[in-house]
Amino acid sequence: MAAERRSRREFLKRATTAAAAGGLADLLPAGYGEARESDGGGARTPADVAGKHSMRAHAAAHGMLVGCAVIPEKLTGEQEYANLVAEQASILVPENALKWAALRPAPDRYDFRGADIILVFAQAHGQKVRGHNLCWHEALPAWFASTVTRENAAQFLTEHIQTVAGRYAGKLQAWDVVNEAIDPKSGLPDGLRKSPWLEMIGPDYIELAFRTARKADATALLTYNDYSIELDSPDQTEKREAVLALVKRMKANGAPIDAVGVQSHLDASAELPGAGLQKFVRELAAMGLQVFVTEMDVNDRKLQGNAEERDLAVAGVYRNYLTMMLAEPNVNVALTWGITDRYTWLKGAKYGRAHGEPERPLPFDADYLPTPAFFAERTAIDSRRKTA
Ligand code: G3I
Repeated sequence: MAAERRSRREFLKRATTAAAAGGLADLLPAGYGEARESDGGGARTPADVAGKHSMRAHAAAHGMLVGCAVIPEKLTGEQEYANLVAEQASILVPENALKWAALRPAPDRYDFRGADIILVFAQAHGQKVRGHNLCWHEALPAWFASTVTRENAAQFLTEHIQTVAGRYAGKLQAWDVVNEAIDPKSGLPDGLRKSPWLEMIGPDYIELAFRTARKADATALLTYNDYSIELDSPDQTEKREAVLALVKRMKANGAPIDAVGVQSHLDASAELPGAGLQKFVRELAAMGLQVFVTEMDVNDRKLQGNAEERDLAVAGVYRNYLTMMLAEPNVNVALTWGITDRYTWLKGAKYGRAHGEPERPLPFDADYLPTPAFFAERTAIDSRRKTA
């Protein structure tokens, strides 16, 4: 253990050096490279990220919520994970526990155990919870394809939303009511994604889901959530414009929509989001809609260089992107998709780094040490006007 701690200490010192070299030295607090405190239960993260130094405390001082996607089994089974989530987050979202695949073991049966663990944990730690998600083309249970048809799809969707949103009515800050319904590459009218819901119900499935969710929960902020709408590239601009057009149609029809979720799965080797996204956020503000950063992570898989250099590139994206987004008055919530690299969805063949090196996309690494991204996210939060 001592040798392992030494190597991590060496890594931290190198990160400090790289930070200074990379012109991001202001991101890392004094002593970032110092040894970690340790206690009988194992090493702890440096004191400079706890208590008043935590992401949660800085967010509170700047009138916003900050948090992460969580895994119920880790909240109950891994004390270090639970402590970190409790200390750093003021809002949680179930990474998978509120999806159809998790909730619906059978057409006539629901399993809320995972979601309930998260709601109980959040209540115990004074945290908000956002729901994700009531209607998606992915994470559908194995029985779905052979059971749901054109004739009964609207009834299945309605009953699912009534049951799930009804169970948590009044307890959630927001719901991702419909997730990722736009995909211009599908080549369908209005850029709608080819999905079982569209095929079986038609385009009205989107407003059906929102109207049903509002009837089931009068207070949750009803959100449309999507990805790859951040950059000024032609593809992402086209998709962002299709999302805006969808939201405008919904507002014109009187559908109950309160917010748009910008997932923010970013790539450290790509261009930074800029004017196009800023304009999108302001157009939504003009329509009275909030914008949430719902699933941020910054993958470094295409970057060259050593871990310290890649960390700084990732941190630079966190700081620049969140500073831009959090400067907008209708952006007051930011979540990362996970809190520790140990459980990032980016691991593995499809999204992992070459040669299986660990991905480092989140504010805490696989050893629960704060990465430069932590300090970058906190710096972006501090760039907002203080409210407390
Ligand atoms: O729970 C089962 C387990 O019982 C089984 O043994 C195991 C092996 O098949 O699978 C487990 O389910 C997996 C689940 O994650 C929980 O780990 C699913 O196969 C796997 O597909 C699922 O992946 C999730 C993915 O959404 C699809 O639902 C990722 O963890 C999750 O990070 C990812 O999150 C999505 C957001 O919901 C929407 N935006 C994009 C984002 C990243 O894809």
